[in-house]
Amino acid sequence: MPPSRPVPPLDRRAFVRAAAALGALALAPRGLAAAAASPAPDLLTLDEAEAAARAKLDAAAYAYVSGGAGEERTLRWNRERFDDLRFRQRVLRDLGDLDISVTLLGRKRPMPVLFAPTASNRIAHPEGELAVARGAGATGTTYVLSTGATTSIEDVMRAATEPVWFQLYVQTDWKFTEDLVRRAEAAGAEALCLTVDAPVPGARTRSERAGYVLPPGLTVPMLQGVSRPDSVTTLDEVTPARLVWRDVERLIAFSRRPVFLKGILDPADADRAVRAGAAGVIVSNHGGRNLDTLPATIEALPAVADAVAGRVPVLMDGGIRRGTDIVKAVACGATAVLIGRPYLYGLAAAGEAGVAHIQRILRKELRMALALLGVPRLSAVDRGVLWEPRRGG
Ligand SMILES: Cc1cc2nc3c(=O)[nH]c(=O)nc-3n(C[C@H](O)[C@H](O)[C@H](O)COP(=O)(O)O)c2cc1C
Repeated sequence: MPPSRPVPPLDRRAFVRAAAALGALALAPRGLAAAAASPAPDLLTLDEAEAAARAKLDAAAYAYVSGGAGEERTLRWNRERFDDLRFRQRVLRDLGDLDISVTLLGRKRPMPVLFAPTASNRIAHPEGELAVARGAGATGTTYVLSTGATTSIEDVMRAATEPVWFQLYVQTDWKFTEDLVRRAEAAGAEALCLTVDAPVPGARTRSERAGYVLPPGLTVPMLQGVSRPDSVTTLDEVTPARLVWRDVERLIAFSRRPVFLKGILDPADADRAVRAGAAGVIVSNHGGRNLDTLPATIEALPAVADAVAGRVPVLMDGGIRRGTDIVKAVACGATAVLIGRPYLYGLAAAGEAGVAHIQRILRKELRMALALLGVPRLSAVDRGVLWEPRRGG
């Protein structure tokens, strides 16, 4: 077991002050906010959070977080395909109490946005994963902790007040993998998220060109002691991790927690995942970071949702930046969505208050979108909220 780092005491009053200042700034006129002496930036949108993060991060870290694979076409399409979808608005409907909650694994969550697993959160902020867990706690958010985290799951669980899932990168050493699963279970992970779309990393030219490496002093506690860390370090050798369906079945049988499969794009794979006993599938192209020219996830989602046919929840990630994107994902069959880069940008910009602020922006935008669409509940969103030219007249 790697040594656990001491958890700095959470000064709740300081946090509430910082969060309140950030919230006030977000509502204040821009000039006033700019004049206010506060470390928290005036962020109205997730794109503004990216700009604020870019100004704070060193160039290589920004390239690593923001970049994708190849020519970054999939990265771009993840955003652009949302823009291709338009809404059908209905008016004069009784909105009652807007309800954006969602139930996953039998537990009600206040909004349908989870934090996707992202490695190395401490490159964005010294408090890294602890700040993300606290920001998640302040907003009722489920945080999927990466195998590649720069903080141990035990330390993260001590800071967390909301459910944490553990994202698993299966290692070639099966015993090590099993120990990792038991360790995550013992720490209190609510679910496992098995990433299946990364037998090798993608051609991340932008981050490679920028010379990104994990900064000295940061470690990956969950992989400490691994006998054969799989990495692509030379130009002439790419060694794929050997993960096949049989391993997935074995892992599902071994795990004492529900297992989600992350990185499903094909309906046949989605069906196979459900038959293998997965608790859910996550439609993901790894945020455009692995195989360039894969379709956008919002394009792949409807066929996956049709194949799953309600047997398990279908989650999706990739390019969610607005409340309207969440509505479109739900309309296309998602039960909930995850965000990756945006909470890292919030983290880089303003630590845990910045992380929480990202969720609050999305929450506000999602509620606005539902109200303006004339739909009182997220659970009532279906493909009928999307504009079809013929029906539109
Ligand atoms: C910096 C960074 C690190 C990531 N690390 C992991 C990881 O360790 N495991 C994993 O399954 N996905 C990882 N991802 C992918 C995310 O889980 C998610 O699929 C993606 O970020 C969603 O797209 P978005 O960033 O547009 O929201 C990472 C993404 C980023 C940006």
